[in-house]
Amino acid sequence: MILVINILDDAAHLDALRERIALLEWRDGRETAGSVARKVKRNLQGAMDSVPGRALQDELSRLIGDHPVLKAAAQPRRFSPLLISKTGVGGHYGAHVDNALMGRGAQRLRTDLSFTLFLTPPGEYEGGELVIHTAGMTQELKGEAGNLVLYPSGSIHEVKPVTRGERIVCVGWIESLVADEAQREMLFDLENLRTALRQKLPSQSAELLTLDKTIANLLRMWVRP
Ligand code: NI
Repeated sequence: MILVINILDDAAHLDALRERIALLEWRDGRETAGSVARKVKRNLQGAMDSVPGRALQDELSRLIGDHPVLKAAAQPRRFSPLLISKTGVGGHYGAHVDNALMGRGAQRLRTDLSFTLFLTPPGEYEGGELVIHTAGMTQELKGEAGNLVLYPSGSIHEVKPVTRGERIVCVGWIESLVADEAQREMLFDLENLRTALRQKLPSQSAELLTLDKTIANLLRMWVRP
């Protein structure tokens, strides 16, 4: 499942974040790529270990991690540290697969889901589409600023070359409580169904209680603590 979620729809907040991001120090993106991905990655990454970088990390992590749709779709156990990437003219990120495991020691996580939060309005650059190859299908995404694309980490994906302007995105990874993608999708569908039914039925209705029971029992079956 590939999902687009509007994380940040407040234009003034977005502009303020973009101004702070523009002031970050930038480093070669190859430093944070695996050995294969390093050969095809041509972009810059904001220094997240600086004081302004850490403040951005905290704020963006909250915006993303607290979003109810993202939580329902991803069932997150934990998030990787975020990266902010800048791709100028000629920059790109060729077809690659994300590492299955990221981080070390207690920070190590299994990447189940990847996400890209678009921060530059699509009219400000050309190219730079995120292309995701899933079984038998290719999807090209160029999100509005503030939109986040959530997709399975197990897919081959790439970022097409930027041919005008500059593309800034925030990317990260999620280890899910539910490792299986099909199971996550069923839970997400049931959660959406429950939200819709709550508008129509009293919360103590037999139908909603049965749905509550089913969702809870599926979580008991599928969540790996
Ligand atoms: Ni990737």
